[in-house]
Amino acid sequence: MSEKSFYLSTPIYYVNDAPHIGHAYTTVAGDVLTRWHRQRGESVWFLTGTDEHGQKVLNTAEKNGVAPQDWCDKLVEDAWKPVWKALNIANDDFIRTTEPRHMERVQRFLSGLKEQGHIYSGKYEGPYCIGCEEFKLPGDLLEGGLCPIHSKPCETVSEENWFFRLSAFVPALIEHYKKNPTACEPASARNEVVAFLEGEVQDLSISRSTFDWGIPVPWDTKQVIYVWFDALLNYATAVGLGDEAGSVGAEMFAKTWPADVHLVGKDILRFHAVIWPAMLMAAGLPLPKKVFAHGWLLVGGEKMSKSKLTGIAPSDITDHFGVDAFRYYFLRAIPFGSDGSFSWEDMSARYTSELANDFGNLASRLIAMIEKYCDGVIPALAKDAALESALAETVAKADASMVALDFQGGINAIMEFCKRVNGYVTEREPWIVAKDESRKAELNEILYNTADSIRALAVLLHPVMPATCETLWAALGMQSSIAEQKISDVATWAQIPTGSRVTKGAVLFPRLEDPVAK
Ligand code: ME8
Ligand code: MG
Repeated sequence: MSEKSFYLSTPIYYVNDAPHIGHAYTTVAGDVLTRWHRQRGESVWFLTGTDEHGQKVLNTAEKNGVAPQDWCDKLVEDAWKPVWKALNIANDDFIRTTEPRHMERVQRFLSGLKEQGHIYSGKYEGPYCIGCEEFKLPGDLLEGGLCPIHSKPCETVSEENWFFRLSAFVPALIEHYKKNPTACEPASARNEVVAFLEGEVQDLSISRSTFDWGIPVPWDTKQVIYVWFDALLNYATAVGLGDEAGSVGAEMFAKTWPADVHLVGKDILRFHAVIWPAMLMAAGLPLPKKVFAHGWLLVGGEKMSKSKLTGIAPSDITDHFGVDAFRYYFLRAIPFGSDGSFSWEDMSARYTSELANDFGNLASRLIAMIEKYCDGVIPALAKDAALESALAETVAKADASMVALDFQGGINAIMEFCKRVNGYVTEREPWIVAKDESRKAELNEILYNTADSIRALAVLLHPVMPATCETLWAALGMQSSIAEQKISDVATWAQIPTGSRVTKGAVLFPRLEDPVAK
């Protein structure tokens, strides 16, 4: 059998509106991490998609006077997929919960749980928040019965439904997180989940009978499957859940399952760290290796959201700063796991100092000097022991941080090396050395060491800023493919070939027209 892939998922997003920078934050983080793992030479599977059933999407479609399926088709094709393409997201698959491949496998899974006695019928009565698509406990709500996330009143549901015996799995879940602390991160998220599990966990209503926009319960088609029960299964249906032995689906499942990382925002932690593993336990399937809950992008101290109309479209930022600065900024500025606010001023400042000055100028100065002093050709191989060992340390540190989802730590390590290389150039003053013909060998050495350092920076930053680093790679005259450069080889010195011809390409990070105003 082929090697197990590193399998990462993002949430599947509701298609009640177009993506905002909160959704882009998760998806870019997933893209950076999967690109990093690909550059480690691993086989990778990266899944994203859309969550299309349930009352929230149905109500939005109705408000717009469109049939729900047409609404979803339009939003997926005109809004979600184009935004991911514009942000250079390299997902391997895109699952929509209205696809037959998903719906059939969900029904089969649910029938299996019923046969094994994990499902029973009962009466549900209680508050339900359509914004969260969640059954709430009265104790969860703010005064006046408002949902604490959406600040909107909940509706009261009173229905005969099908229930999943969630409570039966509580001891096993507590045990699971005790034994595998990395199965839920960061630690604050794990603590919250364990505290929840140690409280009163109720069984879960997994069907609804008052509307029909959902997957029918196979043995009771007057009911549709609860949208979260349907949605969580996407991670497994997309890779062939329950397919017959020997089929393509079964092979895919063996190659991907269990998922390595489910990346989610902390708003949907409990669904992923309580309900989802319980569903898998009930079916006798291995649990995901990690659920990582990152923090929120805030607007005015509150979670940026579609329903509160505080969402900023990614294009509002990329039109001004470019796609790669967008991909860089949020992971660099906010520790992954903490909340953060977007600030136009902070982004402008980092763009100018870190991207345009530290990184972009270093590259353009080097290329200009190679053109001026070496006729545009990379000089003879050279080595600087201090730079070489700093690079080795950088790669080790960046790799350890990135695979631990500490994007800020990883990017910082790389940008520290960039500063170091700038320091080397400043100290060695090649423009002075160039004035003295007898110091030609020294000049070549400085330029070679700088060029090879920039070669390393391009590879290390490629997962974060793919298009920019590809441009830089070509400008350095590299003939190989940057995507095939392995992280484990980056620190091997002297990879840029003598005799390569550099070309002055476009400026990597152009000066901002008007740094503050939009
Ligand atoms: O919850 N800051 O979909 P959703 C950071 N369909 N991340 C944010 C964010 C913010 N302000 N706003 C949204 C759903 N996100 C379900 C998921 S999965 C089986 C089903 C990101 O459209 C973050 O990843 O409400 C969050 O968890 C997700 O979008 C919620 O997207
Ligand atoms: Mg939401």
